[in-house]
Amino acid sequence: MVSTMEEVAIEYLTQYYTENELPELDRRVNEVRKMIKQTGTYVHTRGELAYGAKLAWRNSNRCIGRLFWERLNILDERSLNTEQGVAQALFRHIEYATNKGKVIPTITVFKQGSRIRIWNHQLIRYAGYQHGEYVVGDPASIELTQICEQLGWQGAGTDFDLLPLVISIDGKEPIWFKIPDDLMMEVELRHPKYAAFELLQLKWYAVPIISDMRMEIGGLTYYSAPFNGWYMGTEIGARNLADEYRYNRLEQVADVLGIETKKESFLWRDEALVELNKAVLHSFQSANVSIVDHHTAAKQFQQFIKAEEKQGRKTTGDWTWLIPPMSPAQTRIFHQSFENEWQSPNFYYEKAPYEVD
Ligand code: ARG
Repeated sequence: MVSTMEEVAIEYLTQYYTENELPELDRRVNEVRKMIKQTGTYVHTRGELAYGAKLAWRNSNRCIGRLFWERLNILDERSLNTEQGVAQALFRHIEYATNKGKVIPTITVFKQGSRIRIWNHQLIRYAGYQHGEYVVGDPASIELTQICEQLGWQGAGTDFDLLPLVISIDGKEPIWFKIPDDLMMEVELRHPKYAAFELLQLKWYAVPIISDMRMEIGGLTYYSAPFNGWYMGTEIGARNLADEYRYNRLEQVADVLGIETKKESFLWRDEALVELNKAVLHSFQSANVSIVDHHTAAKQFQQFIKAEEKQGRKTTGDWTWLIPPMSPAQTRIFHQSFENEWQSPNFYYEKAPYEVD
């Protein structure tokens, strides 16, 4: 059964008022009912928006970092309606969330319903170039990189070219904006013990800001609502730099560290993974950039489950995503099971604007 906007709105308002013990729910419900009748939609107060965004995080079944859901900071940019304005707001997000390394979980919310679209998967991400057989940069970015080039952008052609922001409004031609260099923070990777690791010349950016999901709260859709937390080390060390279809650097790590790769049964991949991940955590920590290791994150997730239980809520989750990609069985999560039930408010995948059907 499909529920109407009114029903979904009332359901959310009830949750917002109840969980926060706010007075006069009825007054607000009547007001929203009237607005929907007259205009076909309604507008969230700042409080409703802020709490809805927090709930969208709390309900993100794939996220291991949800203990901190109440600490999400909301940047309300709902009044903006130009590509330039949006780009400036995204620059502000990057600076605010990066916070010189002490990362602040942040979401920027643009106008509901309006087709403000950010074409980037994350506000900060590296370009990828296909050169025949092999790829320079991040293979995950090849398509967007080509689009940027078609729009007139040109990268230096290194493994770590920062992509520009690509923004479109109402289906118009997208406009690209270079992110000022001083806004983005990067961490060069070194190993705490082995100086040779630096020969790899690896680095990664400080803050992952997902920018291609839509947020739904109380029947309203926010097509652009980029959000970030801080990194968990394995995202970089066990996936971005290690996956065969990403930077695929394990063999090189093994090479510079002198790890014997002749036989799979030497477990050289595992050894290289551990060293690479130690380097990621060590480098972020030395640079005073927020990061969490997967064992600590898994413990924090157990705290989240407990806190939710205390409030009479059962934690839903997507086990396949919650378990970390390294030593998963060493975390409690591996031995638990979760109902992967979808709750609103939440974030949803949205087809990229450049994917035509
Ligand atoms: N896994 C993604 C990446 O490596 C980032 C996803 C969000 N991660 C986070 N810690 N909030 O870039």
